[in-house]
Amino acid sequence: MNFELTEEHIAVREAARDFTQNVLKPGVIERDETQTFPKEEIRQLGELGFLGMMVKPEYGGGGMDALSYAIAMEEVSKVDASTSVCMSVNNSLVCFGIEKFGSEEQKQKYLKPLAQGEKIGAFCLSEPEAGSDATSQSTTAIDMGDHYLLNGTKNWITNGSSASVYLVIAQSDVSKGHKGINAFIVEKGWDGFIVGAKENKLGIRGSDTHTLMFNDVKVPKENRIGADGSGFKFAMKTLEGGRIGIAAQALGIAAGAYELALAYSKERKAFGKEISKHQAIQFKLADMATEIEAARLLVYKAAVLKDQGKDYAHASSMAKLFASRVAMEVTVEAVQVHGGYGFVKEYHVERLMRDAKITQIYEGTSEVQKIVISRGVLKD
Ligand code: CAA
Repeated sequence: MNFELTEEHIAVREAARDFTQNVLKPGVIERDETQTFPKEEIRQLGELGFLGMMVKPEYGGGGMDALSYAIAMEEVSKVDASTSVCMSVNNSLVCFGIEKFGSEEQKQKYLKPLAQGEKIGAFCLSEPEAGSDATSQSTTAIDMGDHYLLNGTKNWITNGSSASVYLVIAQSDVSKGHKGINAFIVEKGWDGFIVGAKENKLGIRGSDTHTLMFNDVKVPKENRIGADGSGFKFAMKTLEGGRIGIAAQALGIAAGAYELALAYSKERKAFGKEISKHQAIQFKLADMATEIEAARLLVYKAAVLKDQGKDYAHASSMAKLFASRVAMEVTVEAVQVHGGYGFVKEYHVERLMRDAKITQIYEGTSEVQKIVISRGVLKD
């Protein structure tokens, strides 16, 4: 066991830090306030190679490992979780899904521009009546011979209006249950594909979350991913890696809030000395630092298991379950350390506290992670 990062990992962290401080931080409060998608910032993130980090270079990606991706996600999330969720969905759901399960033609056509950041992707699984219960898909994709006919509604879709490539999960044969589900690549602009209302959210307000409607959308046969009926397993396998990304996001939100609280505690004076010299604050900082370190170890472990080609389903759920809980706890404490200043926008911690909550909900609620973990525990 070696806890040292390699030079490459440190270089990724430094590049991400530079980017977040110079590009993301200046406008992050305003984007949150005005619910503005970080379009230009995402473009630059693509130029940096951070939108297809793990994709092989032959498909336009960075060829990096999952640990590098987790490190970059942590850094970006310290400052701007609205940007990092776009980054996460593109990297670990859309690019990964196409690279791992797509055909060579799909990779050539869709993966390259996604990995290079020329296009953004979205992952469309959730529905009004199918969130945690993901096998209950109401969206249908009926085989019409030379194409599928797609009908239905998807909810809470990250990158909903900014994406141009959508991975859509739909039921093709209800009699087969989850074995009748397929995954498709759908392009924005196809007849019958409507981008619906944008959500007005508690957190990650700069991100672009929409309802999508599909009304008799013709999807070419060659846009089905994998074998007929493999869509549910495709979604589950893809989410295993996605959960590492969201765990890293939660870790970053926690670490960002902690770093702000630590710095503030050394400046702010109360009762004649810096508040960091009061044991009440010292104990908070000690708890925060310990929880963050434990979360980081779980996130890194899940990423390393993925890099080693080992089963990482339970590790990624454990990392997400724990890191998202830490994100909530630490951000609440960071606001407390800041006192009244923590409650106003200029100090960033109130935003991080609001952003933290979604990490316990998307890509599987904490309860879903416990289902995955407990099945693994009981199987052993
Ligand atoms: N890998 C491969 N196969 C898997 C699998 C995995 N990780 N997990 C399940 N499967 C297979 C099972 O083996 C089973 O197949 P067989 O019948 O052939 O054995 C099949 O899939 C059905 O599995 P389950 O019986 O376990 O299904 P379930 O109904 O009990 O559900 C669940 C399990 C874990 C709760 C799952 O539904 C789930 O993960 N739900 C949450 C969905 C989710 O994360 N949504 C997030 C939306 S995306 C998002 O948020 C992106 C964003 O915008 C940020």
